[in-house]
Amino acid sequence: MELLDGKKIATAIKLEIASEVAQMRASGMRAPNLVAILVGNDGASETYVNSKEKNCKEVGFDSSVIRYDAKITEDFLLAKIKEINQDDSIDGLIVQLPLPAHISVAKVVETIDHKKDVDGFHPINIGRMNKNLPCFISATPNGIMMLLDRYKIATAGKHCVVIGRSQIVGSPMSILMSLNAEPGNCTVTLCHSKTPDIKKYTLDADIVIVAIGKKNFLTADMVKNGAVIIDVGMNRENSNETKSGYKLFGDVDFEQVKTKAAYISPVPGGVGLMTIVSLLKNTLSAAKKEYYQ
Ligand code: GUN
Repeated sequence: MELLDGKKIATAIKLEIASEVAQMRASGMRAPNLVAILVGNDGASETYVNSKEKNCKEVGFDSSVIRYDAKITEDFLLAKIKEINQDDSIDGLIVQLPLPAHISVAKVVETIDHKKDVDGFHPINIGRMNKNLPCFISATPNGIMMLLDRYKIATAGKHCVVIGRSQIVGSPMSILMSLNAEPGNCTVTLCHSKTPDIKKYTLDADIVIVAIGKKNFLTADMVKNGAVIIDVGMNRENSNETKSGYKLFGDVDFEQVKTKAAYISPVPGGVGLMTIVSLLKNTLSAAKKEYYQ
C-alpha cells in the first residue's frame, strides 16, 4: 500500500503558487487577496478559517477574516457581501459554513459574485463545472483531483464509488469523476444515506471516495484488493494527547483497509491539506482573471 501524501503534494504546490505570487509582485501587480467571513464561533470553522489565513500568508497572499456574532441578521450579511463584490481590491470571498439556522445558505451563496466565488458553490460555477467549462471548482473535490493527478492514478474506465452526496464534496466529486477529462472518465456510483447495502457497490469499486462523516465507516470487508481509497472524513474527537485538544479521524478504518488497498489518503495528512491548496489555487486564478474577465 502506498500513501497518497497530501502534505508532500500540498507543500510542492504551495511553492509553485508562492513563486507565481512573487512574479506578480515583481511585475508591479498586487498580491491575490482573499477575504473570509466567519459568523458565530463554531470550533471546527474557527480552525479551518485560521488555517486558510495562515496558508494565504505563507504563499504571499493578502487575506483577512471578518468575524461576526451569530446573531447578525441575514440582511446585514448580504449587504456586506454586496459591498465586497464591488471592491476591486478583493479577488476571492468565502463565507464559512455552517451558518446559523436563521441565515439562508442558498441566499448567501447566490449573493456572492460568481467571479469571486473561490469556494465554487455558486450555481453558475456548479453549472459550468457540469458542462466541463472553466470555473471555480469547490476546494475539496478539486484537491482530490489534484492528488489523483499528481500520483498519476489511472481513472479512465474505472468504477468509482462516491459515498456521501453533500453539496460541498460528494455531489461535485461524482460529477468530476464522470466528466470527459483527465483525471475523470470513470463509471460513477453515488451512494448515500438511502442506499441499501453500500458494500455491494464498494466491493466492485476500483476507486472509493468516502465523505460520509462516520469514523471507521469503510472496513476491509467492503474493499476490493488493489483499490484506491480517498478518505474525506474529518471526525473530531476530544483528546488530551494533542496540543489542539482534539484528534482527527477519517471515515476509513485505516489499519484494516491498508491490508487490501493499493493507495490510501490518510487522515490527517491527506485530503484536508489539498483542500486548502485548491482554495489558494482558485484565489490565484481569481486574481489573474483566468476564468472570468
Ligand atoms: N465548511 C466546510 N467546508 C467548507 C468549505 O470548503 N468552504 C466553506 N465556505 N465552508 C466550509
